[in-house]
Amino acid sequence: MKENREVLEKLKKLEPVLWENNDYIDAAAGIDSTRIDIKKVYEAEDRLIRFAPLIKKLFPETVDGIIESPLVEIQSMKKSLESYYNKSIEGKMFLKCDSELKIAGSVKARGGIYEVLKHAEDIALESGKFSLQDDYSVLMSESFKELFSTYKIAVGSTGNLGLSIGIMSSALGFNVTVHMSRDAKRWKKDLLRSKGVTVIEYEEDYSKAVEQGRKQCTGDPKAYFIDDENSIDLFLGYSIAALRLKTQLWELGLTIDEEHKLNLYLPCGVGGAPGGITFGAKLIFGNNVKCYFVEPTHAPCMLLGLLTGRYNKVHVRDYNIDNITEADGLAVGSPSKLVSMVAEELMDGEYTIQDEEMFKLLALLRDSEGRKVEVSAAASLLGPTLLQADENTIHISWATGGLLLPEQEYLNAYKTGKQYLQQR
Ligand SMILES: Cc1ncc(COP(=O)(O)O)c(C=O)c1O
Repeated sequence: MKENREVLEKLKKLEPVLWENNDYIDAAAGIDSTRIDIKKVYEAEDRLIRFAPLIKKLFPETVDGIIESPLVEIQSMKKSLESYYNKSIEGKMFLKCDSELKIAGSVKARGGIYEVLKHAEDIALESGKFSLQDDYSVLMSESFKELFSTYKIAVGSTGNLGLSIGIMSSALGFNVTVHMSRDAKRWKKDLLRSKGVTVIEYEEDYSKAVEQGRKQCTGDPKAYFIDDENSIDLFLGYSIAALRLKTQLWELGLTIDEEHKLNLYLPCGVGGAPGGITFGAKLIFGNNVKCYFVEPTHAPCMLLGLLTGRYNKVHVRDYNIDNITEADGLAVGSPSKLVSMVAEELMDGEYTIQDEEMFKLLALLRDSEGRKVEVSAAASLLGPTLLQADENTIHISWATGGLLLPEQEYLNAYKTGKQYLQQR
Protein backbone atom coordinates (compact mmCIF):
# COMPACT_ATOMS: atom_id res chain seq x y z
CA MET A 1 0.00 0.00 0.00
CA LYS A 2 1.26 3.45 -1.00
CA GLU A 3 0.79 5.08 2.43
CA ASN A 4 2.69 2.26 4.13
CA ARG A 5 5.57 2.64 1.67
CA GLU A 6 5.74 6.36 2.40
CA VAL A 7 5.78 5.73 6.14
CA LEU A 8 8.54 3.16 5.72
CA GLU A 9 10.64 5.65 3.75
CA LYS A 10 10.23 8.21 6.52
CA LEU A 11 11.15 5.66 9.18
CA LYS A 12 14.37 4.90 7.33
CA LYS A 13 15.19 8.61 7.33
CA LEU A 14 14.51 8.77 11.10
CA GLU A 15 11.63 11.18 10.52
CA PRO A 16 8.72 11.08 12.98
CA VAL A 17 5.61 9.44 11.53
CA LEU A 18 1.97 9.01 12.39
CA TRP A 19 0.55 5.75 11.08
CA GLU A 20 -3.02 4.48 11.15
CA ASN A 21 -3.49 0.70 11.06
CA ASN A 22 -5.66 -0.20 8.07
CA ASP A 23 -5.57 -3.89 9.00
CA TYR A 24 -7.42 -3.12 12.22
CA ILE A 25 -10.49 -5.30 12.57
CA ASP A 26 -13.41 -5.12 14.97
CA ALA A 27 -12.24 -5.49 18.60
CA ALA A 28 -14.21 -8.67 19.33
CA ALA A 29 -13.07 -10.34 16.11
CA GLY A 30 -9.49 -9.23 16.78
CA ILE A 31 -9.54 -10.70 20.26
CA ASP A 32 -10.95 -13.96 18.89
CA SER A 33 -8.29 -14.25 16.28
CA THR A 34 -5.47 -13.90 18.84
CA ARG A 35 -6.69 -17.23 20.30
CA ILE A 36 -5.77 -15.93 23.76
CA ASP A 37 -8.30 -17.25 26.24
CA ILE A 38 -9.95 -14.19 27.80
CA LYS A 39 -10.79 -16.17 30.95
CA LYS A 40 -7.08 -16.08 31.68
CA VAL A 41 -7.15 -12.28 32.13
CA TYR A 42 -9.70 -12.64 34.93
CA GLU A 43 -7.82 -15.61 36.41
CA ALA A 44 -4.69 -13.49 36.47
CA GLU A 45 -6.50 -10.74 38.36
CA ASP A 46 -7.80 -13.35 40.87
CA ARG A 47 -4.27 -14.63 41.35
CA LEU A 48 -3.02 -11.14 42.23
CA ILE A 49 -5.84 -10.79 44.74
CA ARG A 50 -4.79 -14.09 46.35
CA PHE A 51 -1.25 -12.77 46.61
CA ALA A 52 -2.28 -9.45 48.19
CA PRO A 53 -1.73 -10.58 51.83
CA LEU A 54 1.84 -11.57 50.95
CA ILE A 55 2.57 -8.38 49.00
CA LYS A 56 1.14 -6.30 51.83
CA LYS A 57 3.66 -7.81 54.25
CA LEU A 58 6.64 -7.80 51.90
CA PHE A 59 5.94 -4.31 50.55
CA PRO A 60 3.95 -2.28 53.09
CA GLU A 61 4.16 0.76 50.78
CA THR A 62 1.43 -0.83 48.60
CA VAL A 63 -2.24 -0.24 49.40
CA ASP A 64 -3.40 -3.52 50.96
CA GLY A 65 -1.01 -5.50 48.79
CA ILE A 66 -2.51 -4.34 45.49
CA ILE A 67 0.05 -2.82 43.14
CA GLU A 68 -1.80 -0.08 41.27
CA SER A 69 -1.17 3.47 40.13
CA PRO A 70 -3.29 6.63 40.09
CA LEU A 71 -5.16 8.00 37.08
CA VAL A 72 -5.06 11.81 37.20
CA GLU A 73 -6.40 14.55 34.99
CA ILE A 74 -3.61 16.82 33.72
CA GLN A 75 -5.34 20.03 32.69
CA SER A 76 -2.27 22.22 33.09
CA MET A 77 -0.19 19.90 30.91
CA LYS A 78 -2.92 19.97 28.30
CA LYS A 79 -2.71 23.77 28.28
CA SER A 80 1.10 23.66 28.07
CA LEU A 81 0.91 21.29 25.10
CA GLU A 82 -1.66 23.47 23.35
CA SER A 83 0.46 26.52 23.84
CA TYR A 84 3.84 24.96 22.97
CA TYR A 85 2.64 23.01 19.92
CA ASN A 86 0.13 25.67 18.94
CA LYS A 87 -2.71 23.15 18.60
CA SER A 88 -6.01 22.80 20.31
CA ILE A 89 -6.67 19.48 22.04
CA GLU A 90 -10.31 18.39 22.11
CA GLY A 91 -11.43 16.33 25.10
CA LYS A 92 -9.89 15.67 28.51
CA MET A 93 -6.33 14.57 29.10
CA PHE A 94 -5.26 12.12 31.83
CA LEU A 95 -2.01 10.58 32.98
CA LYS A 96 -1.91 6.91 33.99
CA CYS A 97 0.86 7.08 36.55
CA ASP A 98 2.63 3.72 36.30
CA SER A 99 5.60 6.00 36.86
CA GLU A 100 4.45 5.86 40.49
CA LEU A 101 3.71 2.11 40.71
CA LYS A 102 5.05 0.83 43.99
CA ILE A 103 7.91 -1.70 44.26
CA ALA A 104 9.51 -1.27 40.84
CA GLY A 105 8.20 2.05 39.48
CA SER A 106 7.27 1.08 35.95
CA VAL A 107 4.68 -0.57 33.72
CA LYS A 108 6.99 -3.58 33.45
CA ALA A 109 6.18 -4.42 37.07
CA ARG A 110 2.67 -5.38 35.97
CA GLY A 111 3.87 -8.29 33.87
CA GLY A 112 7.16 -9.03 35.60
CA ILE A 113 5.87 -9.25 39.14
CA TYR A 114 2.83 -11.22 38.00
CA GLU A 115 4.93 -13.89 36.29
CA VAL A 116 7.28 -14.29 39.27
CA LEU A 117 4.30 -14.70 41.59
CA LYS A 118 2.66 -17.24 39.31
CA HIS A 119 5.89 -19.23 39.14
CA ALA A 120 6.21 -19.14 42.95
CA GLU A 121 2.62 -20.35 43.28
CA ASP A 122 3.27 -23.24 40.88
CA ILE A 123 6.36 -24.34 42.83
CA ALA A 124 4.59 -24.01 46.19
CA LEU A 125 1.61 -26.05 44.97
CA GLU A 126 3.89 -28.71 43.53
CA SER A 127 5.69 -29.02 46.88
CA GLY A 128 2.47 -30.32 48.43
CA LYS A 129 2.91 -27.95 51.40
CA PHE A 130 0.60 -25.28 50.08
CA SER A 131 -2.91 -24.94 48.68
CA LEU A 132 -4.84 -22.18 46.90
CA GLN A 133 -6.96 -21.69 50.03
CA ASP A 134 -3.96 -20.88 52.27
CA ASP A 135 -3.03 -17.39 53.41
CA TYR A 136 -0.40 -16.48 50.82
CA SER A 137 1.75 -14.64 53.36
CA VAL A 138 2.98 -18.10 54.42
CA LEU A 139 5.10 -17.95 51.25
CA MET A 140 7.50 -15.55 52.97
CA SER A 141 8.30 -18.09 55.71
CA GLU A 142 11.85 -19.46 56.04
CA SER A 143 10.83 -22.88 54.74
CA PHE A 144 9.40 -21.49 51.49
CA LYS A 145 12.34 -19.10 51.11
CA GLU A 146 14.61 -22.09 51.36
CA LEU A 147 12.55 -23.93 48.76
CA PHE A 148 12.58 -20.98 46.34
CA SER A 149 16.33 -20.51 46.81
CA THR A 150 16.87 -23.87 45.09
CA TYR A 151 15.27 -22.42 41.92
CA LYS A 152 16.75 -19.96 39.44
CA ILE A 153 14.94 -17.18 37.60
CA ALA A 154 16.50 -15.27 34.71
CA VAL A 155 15.45 -12.46 32.40
CA GLY A 156 16.88 -10.28 29.64
CA SER A 157 16.09 -6.59 29.97
CA THR A 158 16.79 -2.99 29.01
CA GLY A 159 16.31 -2.18 32.70
CA ASN A 160 12.80 -1.93 34.02
CA LEU A 161 11.67 -5.51 33.50
CA GLY A 162 14.89 -6.59 35.18
CA LEU A 163 14.13 -4.31 38.13
CA SER A 164 10.66 -5.72 38.67
CA ILE A 165 11.68 -9.36 38.29
CA GLY A 166 14.89 -8.93 40.26
CA ILE A 167 13.23 -7.13 43.17
CA MET A 168 10.29 -9.55 43.47
CA SER A 169 12.33 -12.73 42.91
CA SER A 170 14.94 -11.81 45.48
CA ALA A 171 12.24 -10.82 48.01
CA LEU A 172 10.85 -14.36 47.73
CA GLY A 173 14.30 -15.96 47.96
CA PHE A 174 14.86 -17.05 44.36
CA ASN A 175 18.31 -17.20 42.86
CA VAL A 176 17.88 -14.50 40.20
CA THR A 177 20.00 -13.30 37.27
CA VAL A 178 19.24 -10.29 35.09
CA HIS A 179 20.92 -10.06 31.67
CA MET A 180 21.18 -6.36 30.86
CA SER A 181 21.60 -4.81 27.41
CA ARG A 182 24.05 -1.96 26.79
CA ASP A 183 21.21 0.58 27.06
CA ALA A 184 20.42 -0.25 30.67
CA LYS A 185 21.30 2.62 32.99
CA ARG A 186 24.04 2.13 35.59
CA TRP A 187 21.73 3.02 38.49
CA LYS A 188 19.36 0.19 37.58
CA LYS A 189 22.21 -2.33 37.64
CA ASP A 190 23.55 -0.94 40.95
CA LEU A 191 20.11 -1.09 42.54
CA LEU A 192 19.65 -4.72 41.54
CA ARG A 193 23.09 -5.73 42.80
CA SER A 194 22.32 -4.04 46.13
CA LYS A 195 19.37 -6.44 46.44
CA GLY A 196 21.49 -9.53 45.88
CA VAL A 197 20.56 -9.96 42.20
CA THR A 198 23.25 -11.21 39.78
CA VAL A 199 23.54 -8.74 36.90
CA ILE A 200 25.31 -9.74 33.68
CA GLU A 201 26.11 -6.86 31.33
CA TYR A 202 26.32 -7.02 27.55
CA GLU A 203 27.86 -4.66 25.03
CA GLU A 204 25.09 -5.60 22.61
CA ASP A 205 21.44 -4.68 22.48
CA TYR A 206 18.37 -6.10 24.14
CA SER A 207 17.89 -9.01 21.70
CA LYS A 208 21.34 -10.33 22.66
CA ALA A 209 20.65 -10.05 26.40
CA VAL A 210 17.42 -12.04 25.94
CA GLU A 211 19.14 -14.65 23.77
CA GLN A 212 21.91 -15.19 26.34
CA GLY A 213 19.50 -15.41 29.26
CA ARG A 214 17.39 -17.95 27.40
CA LYS A 215 20.45 -20.01 26.48
CA GLN A 216 21.73 -20.15 30.04
CA CYS A 217 18.44 -21.57 31.31
CA THR A 218 18.02 -24.19 28.61
CA GLY A 219 18.37 -27.72 29.91
CA ASP A 220 18.26 -26.77 33.60
CA PRO A 221 14.96 -28.03 35.08
CA LYS A 222 15.32 -25.70 38.05
CA ALA A 223 15.91 -22.61 35.92
CA TYR A 224 13.02 -20.51 34.63
CA PHE A 225 13.50 -17.91 31.94
CA ILE A 226 11.01 -15.06 31.81
CA ASP A 227 10.76 -14.40 28.12
CA ASP A 228 9.73 -10.85 27.28
CA GLU A 229 9.51 -11.75 23.60
CA ASN A 230 7.07 -14.65 23.97
CA SER A 231 5.62 -14.99 27.45
CA ILE A 232 1.85 -15.20 27.69
CA ASP A 233 1.99 -14.76 31.48
CA LEU A 234 3.82 -11.44 31.18
CA PHE A 235 1.24 -10.43 28.60
CA LEU A 236 -1.64 -11.34 30.92
CA GLY A 237 -0.01 -9.40 33.76
CA TYR A 238 0.00 -6.26 31.61
CA SER A 239 -3.56 -6.80 30.42
CA ILE A 240 -4.99 -6.58 33.96
CA ALA A 241 -4.28 -2.85 33.83
CA ALA A 242 -7.38 -2.43 31.66
CA LEU A 243 -9.74 -4.04 34.19
CA ARG A 244 -8.45 -1.70 36.83
CA LEU A 245 -8.63 1.29 34.49
CA LYS A 246 -12.33 0.70 33.97
CA THR A 247 -12.90 0.97 37.73
CA GLN A 248 -10.75 4.09 37.99
CA LEU A 249 -12.66 5.81 35.17
CA TRP A 250 -15.93 4.86 36.83
CA GLU A 251 -14.71 6.30 40.15
CA LEU A 252 -14.02 9.57 38.34
CA GLY A 253 -17.56 9.52 36.95
CA LEU A 254 -16.38 8.74 33.41
CA THR A 255 -18.03 6.19 31.15
CA ILE A 256 -16.61 5.01 27.87
CA ASP A 257 -19.18 4.44 25.14
CA GLU A 258 -20.01 5.37 21.54
CA GLU A 259 -20.23 9.05 22.44
CA HIS A 260 -17.30 9.06 24.85
CA LYS A 261 -14.27 7.48 23.26
CA LEU A 262 -11.00 6.60 24.92
CA ASN A 263 -7.57 7.13 23.34
CA LEU A 264 -4.56 5.37 24.92
CA TYR A 265 -0.97 6.34 24.10
CA LEU A 266 1.40 3.51 24.98
CA PRO A 267 5.22 3.63 24.78
CA CYS A 268 6.53 0.49 23.08
CA GLY A 269 9.81 -1.39 23.36
CA VAL A 270 9.53 -5.10 22.59
CA GLY A 271 5.75 -4.64 22.75
CA GLY A 272 4.69 -6.73 25.76
CA ALA A 273 3.40 -3.90 27.93
CA PRO A 274 1.53 -1.92 25.24
CA GLY A 275 0.33 -5.17 23.63
CA GLY A 276 -1.05 -6.58 26.87
CA ILE A 277 -2.72 -3.29 27.80
CA THR A 278 -4.24 -3.05 24.31
CA PHE A 279 -5.60 -6.58 24.53
CA GLY A 280 -7.16 -5.85 27.93
CA ALA A 281 -8.51 -2.49 26.79
CA LYS A 282 -10.18 -3.94 23.68
CA LEU A 283 -11.66 -6.66 25.85
CA ILE A 284 -13.16 -4.13 28.26
CA PHE A 285 -13.98 -1.13 26.05
CA GLY A 286 -14.39 -2.82 22.63
CA ASN A 287 -14.30 -0.48 19.65
CA ASN A 288 -14.73 2.56 21.90
CA VAL A 289 -11.03 2.57 22.76
CA LYS A 290 -8.23 3.41 20.36
CA CYS A 291 -4.75 2.22 21.25
CA TYR A 292 -1.71 3.95 19.79
CA PHE A 293 1.81 2.64 20.30
CA VAL A 294 4.73 5.07 20.52
CA GLU A 295 8.33 4.29 19.54
CA PRO A 296 11.51 6.39 19.25
CA THR A 297 12.55 7.32 15.70
CA HIS A 298 15.81 5.46 16.40
CA ALA A 299 14.11 2.22 17.49
CA PRO A 300 10.80 1.76 15.62
CA CYS A 301 10.95 -2.05 15.59
CA MET A 302 7.24 -2.82 16.08
CA LEU A 303 6.18 -0.53 13.24
CA LEU A 304 8.93 -1.80 10.95
CA GLY A 305 7.82 -5.39 11.62
CA LEU A 306 4.19 -4.58 10.82
CA LEU A 307 4.90 -2.50 7.71
CA THR A 308 7.22 -5.09 6.20
CA GLY A 309 5.27 -8.16 7.35
CA ARG A 310 8.52 -9.47 8.87
CA TYR A 311 7.30 -9.15 12.47
CA ASN A 312 9.94 -10.47 14.91
CA LYS A 313 12.30 -11.31 12.05
CA VAL A 314 12.98 -7.64 11.53
CA HIS A 315 15.82 -5.76 13.21
CA VAL A 316 16.07 -1.99 12.95
CA ARG A 317 19.68 -2.35 11.82
CA ASP A 318 18.40 -4.02 8.61
CA TYR A 319 17.28 -0.51 7.68
CA ASN A 320 20.40 1.24 8.96
CA ILE A 321 18.59 2.46 12.05
CA ASP A 322 20.95 2.45 15.02
CA ASN A 323 18.64 1.62 17.99
CA ILE A 324 20.36 4.34 20.02
CA THR A 325 18.02 6.40 22.14
CA GLU A 326 17.95 7.96 25.60
CA ALA A 327 14.58 6.27 26.04
CA ASP A 328 16.32 3.17 27.41
CA GLY A 329 13.10 1.18 27.96
CA LEU A 330 12.21 1.57 24.29
CA ALA A 331 15.65 0.75 22.87
CA VAL A 332 14.65 -2.53 21.26
CA GLY A 333 15.71 -3.68 17.78
CA SER A 334 13.25 -6.55 17.17
CA PRO A 335 9.65 -6.77 18.36
CA SER A 336 7.88 -9.63 20.12
CA LYS A 337 6.27 -12.10 17.73
CA LEU A 338 3.32 -12.65 20.05
CA VAL A 339 2.63 -8.93 20.27
CA SER A 340 3.20 -8.26 16.56
CA MET A 341 0.34 -10.67 15.82
CA VAL A 342 -1.91 -9.01 18.40
CA ALA A 343 -0.93 -5.48 17.34
CA GLU A 344 -1.58 -6.13 13.68
CA GLU A 345 -5.25 -6.67 14.40
CA LEU A 346 -5.90 -4.71 17.56
CA MET A 347 -3.69 -1.65 17.66
CA ASP A 348 -5.16 1.43 15.98
CA GLY A 349 -1.95 3.08 15.01
CA GLU A 350 1.40 4.38 16.09
CA TYR A 351 3.52 7.50 16.13
CA THR A 352 7.26 7.75 16.38
CA ILE A 353 9.00 10.49 18.30
CA GLN A 354 12.47 12.02 18.47
CA ASP A 355 14.50 11.94 21.68
CA GLU A 356 14.55 15.74 21.77
CA GLU A 357 10.75 15.79 21.90
CA MET A 358 10.62 13.31 24.78
CA PHE A 359 12.98 15.47 26.84
CA LYS A 360 10.81 18.52 26.16
CA LEU A 361 7.67 16.66 27.23
CA LEU A 362 9.35 15.47 30.43
CA ALA A 363 10.20 19.10 31.25
CA LEU A 364 6.74 20.41 30.33
CA LEU A 365 5.12 17.81 32.59
CA ARG A 366 7.32 18.74 35.54
CA ASP A 367 6.66 22.45 35.09
CA SER A 368 2.92 22.07 34.60
CA GLU A 369 1.99 19.20 36.91
CA GLY A 370 5.04 18.53 39.10
CA ARG A 371 4.98 14.86 38.06
CA LYS A 372 8.16 12.89 37.54
CA VAL A 373 8.49 10.50 34.60
CA GLU A 374 11.45 8.94 32.85
CA VAL A 375 12.33 9.78 29.25
CA SER A 376 10.62 6.69 27.73
CA ALA A 377 7.39 7.46 29.56
CA ALA A 378 7.29 11.07 28.33
CA ALA A 379 6.83 9.74 24.78
CA SER A 380 3.17 9.11 25.55
CA LEU A 381 2.43 12.79 26.17
CA LEU A 382 2.56 13.90 22.54
CA GLY A 383 -0.39 11.72 21.43
CA PRO A 384 -3.24 14.16 22.11
CA THR A 385 -1.58 16.80 19.89
CA LEU A 386 -1.38 14.41 16.94
CA LEU A 387 -4.73 12.64 16.78
CA GLN A 388 -8.16 13.88 15.87
CA ALA A 389 -10.64 13.79 18.74
CA ASP A 390 -13.87 15.44 19.86
CA GLU A 391 -14.81 17.27 23.04
CA ASN A 392 -15.97 14.02 24.72
CA THR A 393 -12.74 12.12 24.10
CA ILE A 394 -10.72 10.90 27.06
CA HIS A 395 -7.00 10.87 26.24
CA ILE A 396 -4.78 8.79 28.51
CA SER A 397 -1.02 9.14 28.22
CA TRP A 398 0.50 6.08 29.85
CA ALA A 399 3.40 7.26 32.02
CA THR A 400 5.29 4.00 32.00
CA GLY A 401 8.13 4.66 34.43
CA GLY A 402 9.95 7.04 36.74
CA LEU A 403 9.59 6.29 40.46
CA LEU A 404 13.03 4.79 41.01
CA LEU A 405 14.89 7.20 38.71
CA PRO A 406 17.56 8.89 40.90
CA GLU A 407 16.84 12.57 41.45
CA GLN A 408 20.08 13.76 39.84
CA GLU A 409 19.45 11.75 36.66
CA TYR A 410 15.94 13.15 36.53
CA LEU A 411 17.14 16.72 37.00
CA ASN A 412 19.69 16.27 34.23
CA ALA A 413 16.94 15.06 31.89
CA TYR A 414 14.76 18.00 32.94
CA LYS A 415 17.60 20.46 32.25
CA THR A 416 18.13 18.93 28.81
CA GLY A 417 14.41 19.28 28.12
CA LYS A 418 14.42 22.93 29.21
CA GLN A 419 17.35 23.66 26.90
CA TYR A 420 15.51 22.13 23.95
CA LEU A 421 12.39 24.12 24.83
CA GLN A 422 14.37 27.35 24.89
CA GLN A 423 16.07 26.65 21.57
CA ARG A 424 12.88 27.07 19.62
C1 LIG B 1 9.57 3.02 31.00
C2 LIG B 1 9.18 2.01 29.96
N1 LIG B 1 8.16 2.30 29.14
C3 LIG B 1 7.77 1.43 28.20
C4 LIG B 1 8.39 0.21 28.02
C5 LIG B 1 7.94 -0.67 26.91
O1 LIG B 1 7.50 -1.93 27.28
P1 LIG B 1 7.66 -3.14 26.29
O2 LIG B 1 9.13 -3.40 26.14
O3 LIG B 1 6.97 -4.27 26.93
O4 LIG B 1 7.08 -2.73 25.00
C6 LIG B 1 9.47 -0.12 28.84
C7 LIG B 1 10.20 -1.37 28.69
O5 LIG B 1 11.10 -1.70 29.41
C8 LIG B 1 9.87 0.80 29.84
O6 LIG B 1 10.90 0.54 30.65
